[in-house]
Amino acid sequence: MPPPGAFSAIDLTPNELELARQRRLAAGGYLDLTSSNPTLQGLHFPAEILREAAEDYWANRRYTPDPRGDAAARAAVIGYYAGRTPPLPLTPDDLFLTASTSEAYSLLFALLADPGDNLLAPNVTYPLFDYLAALRGLELRAYTLREEAGWAIDEHSLAAVADARTRAVLIVSPHNPTGAVLRAPLPALSQLGLPLICDEVFAPFAYGVPHVPPVAALHPDLPVFTLNGISKLFALPDMKLGWVALNHAARGFGPRLELLNDTFLGANGLSQWLLPALFARGMPFVAEMVGRVRANLDLALARLDGHPRLRARLPDGGYYLFPAVQGWQDEEALALHLLDHGLLVHPGYFYGDLPGAHLMLSALTEPASFAAGIERLAAVI
Ligand SMILES: Cc1ncc(COP(=O)(O)O)c(C=O)c1O
Repeated sequence: MPPPGAFSAIDLTPNELELARQRRLAAGGYLDLTSSNPTLQGLHFPAEILREAAEDYWANRRYTPDPRGDAAARAAVIGYYAGRTPPLPLTPDDLFLTASTSEAYSLLFALLADPGDNLLAPNVTYPLFDYLAALRGLELRAYTLREEAGWAIDEHSLAAVADARTRAVLIVSPHNPTGAVLRAPLPALSQLGLPLICDEVFAPFAYGVPHVPPVAALHPDLPVFTLNGISKLFALPDMKLGWVALNHAARGFGPRLELLNDTFLGANGLSQWLLPALFARGMPFVAEMVGRVRANLDLALARLDGHPRLRARLPDGGYYLFPAVQGWQDEEALALHLLDHGLLVHPGYFYGDLPGAHLMLSALTEPASFAAGIERLAAVI
């Protein structure tokens, strides 16, 4: 029996790949194609915008917390959704500012489910869900993404894994790490009738689609909780601000979500104050970031085109390439082999359980390193 307490059954000793990474680092380093951290890839939100907007904060600082978040900050978020395609109409009462998207998930898990209940999450996926679900004693049940259909959600698998204790469906669009975007309402979601928790942190990064439609606008028939924040949108993960937007059908959950958010009041005062300026003045920077990722994706796809073992395609959106690798079954051995040649990638199993071998490559990477990394990948595999 593991000792009591969260995560006590998890083996926290470093795995083979991490040990090899540490050795390689000590021996001179490697090309890193795994980074999701814009601040370490030369993408810095313009400091003068932050500095100028913060000036007024220091002069006017008062702690008068609102459990839904600062009114001016919420108004700025409402303006952002009004400009999406299609627009998502929101009122100030539909928004809850949080410390991060991760915290927002955790509040929603508590809002919607009790220990022993389950949530449906995609296989493959952003790996944080396991830990967030474990903290609430929830089971995650995997629904399938169809690789051959551009990683579209397999509607049959949704119905197959849901039961009487399923409380919500998690959707990430654009999806991490496959990039798939949900473009149209899914009849299977409507039939299930469950609340949707939709993570849209990669919404500005649209490549294989003209735009990323808010899932809440596609599914007005369901309670939809839309999650986003400034970590990806404005490359400000250090400023710690996220939000939950409730569509019309989710409004009944508002009072309890307010109490949950009031329990922590996690949203940072300075970051809330800055948010209107981020939306008003930050969009040229966002466009620059989106352009960087696009240029990296184009470079990789051109280099890997016709490669005998790597199968990459332009993702609908997001930061990442998630190519299949032919001729390899053991992803860990593949990642170790690449590290031996000075290249760090994530093996597909970090994100779930798929047949065959896949790699995650981050196109957020600083362009010269990205180009060198892709060149090495193509040569070594
Ligand atoms: C899909 C997805 N959602 C959420 C987050 C985290 O966002 P936050 O920094 O707001 O917690 C990440 C970070 O990588 C992510 O990939």
